[in-house]
Amino acid sequence: MKKNLLKTKAWKKLTDHYKHFKKIEMRDLFDADPKRADKYTLKLDNLMFDYSKNRFNDHTLKLLFRLARDCGLEEKIKAMFRGDKINFTENRSVLHIALRNRSNKPIYADGKDVMPAINAVLAKMRQFAEDVRLGKFKGHTGKKLTSIVNIGIGGSDLGPVMATEALRKYWAKDMNCYFISNIDGTACAEVLNKVNPETTLFIVSSKTFTTIETLTNARTCRKWLVDALGEPAVAKHFIAISTNQKEVEKFGINPENMFEFWDFVGGRYSMWSAIGMSIAIVAGPDNFEKMLDGAFAMDKHFATSDFEHNIPVIMALLGIWYNNFFGVKRYAVIPYDQYLQYFPAYLQQLDMESNGKSVDREGNFINYSTGPVLFGGAGTNVQHSFFQLIHQGTDFVPCDFIIPAISHNEIGDHHEILVANVLAQGEALMRGKTEKEAAAELAKAGKSKDEVKALKRYKSFSGNRPSNTFVVKKVDPYTLGELVAMYEHKVFVQGVIWNINSYDQMGVELGKQLALNILPELSGNATGIRHDCSTSKLIEAIKKMRK
Ligand code: F6P
Repeated sequence: MKKNLLKTKAWKKLTDHYKHFKKIEMRDLFDADPKRADKYTLKLDNLMFDYSKNRFNDHTLKLLFRLARDCGLEEKIKAMFRGDKINFTENRSVLHIALRNRSNKPIYADGKDVMPAINAVLAKMRQFAEDVRLGKFKGHTGKKLTSIVNIGIGGSDLGPVMATEALRKYWAKDMNCYFISNIDGTACAEVLNKVNPETTLFIVSSKTFTTIETLTNARTCRKWLVDALGEPAVAKHFIAISTNQKEVEKFGINPENMFEFWDFVGGRYSMWSAIGMSIAIVAGPDNFEKMLDGAFAMDKHFATSDFEHNIPVIMALLGIWYNNFFGVKRYAVIPYDQYLQYFPAYLQQLDMESNGKSVDREGNFINYSTGPVLFGGAGTNVQHSFFQLIHQGTDFVPCDFIIPAISHNEIGDHHEILVANVLAQGEALMRGKTEKEAAAELAKAGKSKDEVKALKRYKSFSGNRPSNTFVVKKVDPYTLGELVAMYEHKVFVQGVIWNINSYDQMGVELGKQLALNILPELSGNATGIRHDCSTSKLIEAIKKMRK
């Protein structure tokens, strides 16, 4: 049995180190070392990672690196890249890295090199995306397909939603892309109101092809199409992305129109597979592959850099430092780029579905905290929503800021104002404003002594609030690939330290099971199922209202 994390030497030392370090102010660390930013900045291609505005010193890092080594991180990274079955509860390899293995060196799952199959699907995907873009693959009535509708949920939706939006500037001019994920009929209705059956391609994306939301939405869209164009139109307007050919055929999609992926690709890690078809169609297969190139560059960086120069490792360890020693169980990701507006939503599934676990790899209930709550949104919008709490709430919230140096839309001074804002947030959070400083400002603004006294505390900022700043040259496909892979590996490292399986998601099952019980009750076809009195009352009330 593996030694409990809390009993490792590094953990104990970190606990002691925390006791004295918690009082140390970042502004003092900066004042004491004018080279702190040089020391704590890393670069990969056009991505710069400044982690200097965090509450640590060299000793903290040393202990965190030791913790990573005590937890066998070096070997665990090799195991993932080698194709070992690190998703042990499902007996699967975890090989999203193979999907962007641009070196094409063999990677084995179950003793078989996975690269030939991956390359074959990528080539088929490229061909299909080109054919749609060039109007060679036409709709049933001979028209070009210009509306792409991805039907999927979770990992079969959030990656494509995020990446197509991030790359909107690269879209073919005559194409539009829509997403249907929610089972709420409104999601379907609103998209179908906007598109024309003759020019619409539906991509049914589902790893399992059994997900109730996706299949229900796909059936509704299929009926809509068949009502308009007849049954034979399905072959020209529906394709499927799945690991489950049997269910795809059962649904009525020709296997020729199916693009395969594999069990060794987790849903939330699947945007690099054919699940990214909508990205390849609207932004083009070249850009899709540039995204793979960027992710591959990050993979190489992660797999080969020592921990001291390893971006995902440092991100992860600082996260552990806050989560497990400061007791801060949340963090915010704030891209200052409108095209990255869905990045936090994407990362929510990536992080929280991966590391929201409470049983360790040996089957023990865990007595330390694991995955944090992740939230966020695009800056500067969020400065006007949740930033009050980030600056003056009782607890700090570590933030990741992402900012491109160059905007895709350099209009007037918009971008300078955007950049000034993101940098100001990091500085303000780190430095804060003492009561004395606040008082001096108030006095300078002409407030009376009494007013200064009454207001100075409200106007002060504790500071010492950590943030990472990621500067990228531009949000292009390559950089997007790097950014996403970077967070994937951060999540992996934290999963290793917490000794959990980051690659299953059994926590979503219970709700699904219970929904299947409740469904027949709502439609009046079943009664007598025992629920708690609250659930029973809610069922009855809703049934009454629907009458
Ligand atoms: O929410 C649970 C989940 O299994 C996710 O992990 C997955 O991304 C999503 O449902 C969709 O699953 P599928 O691609 O099989 O439809």
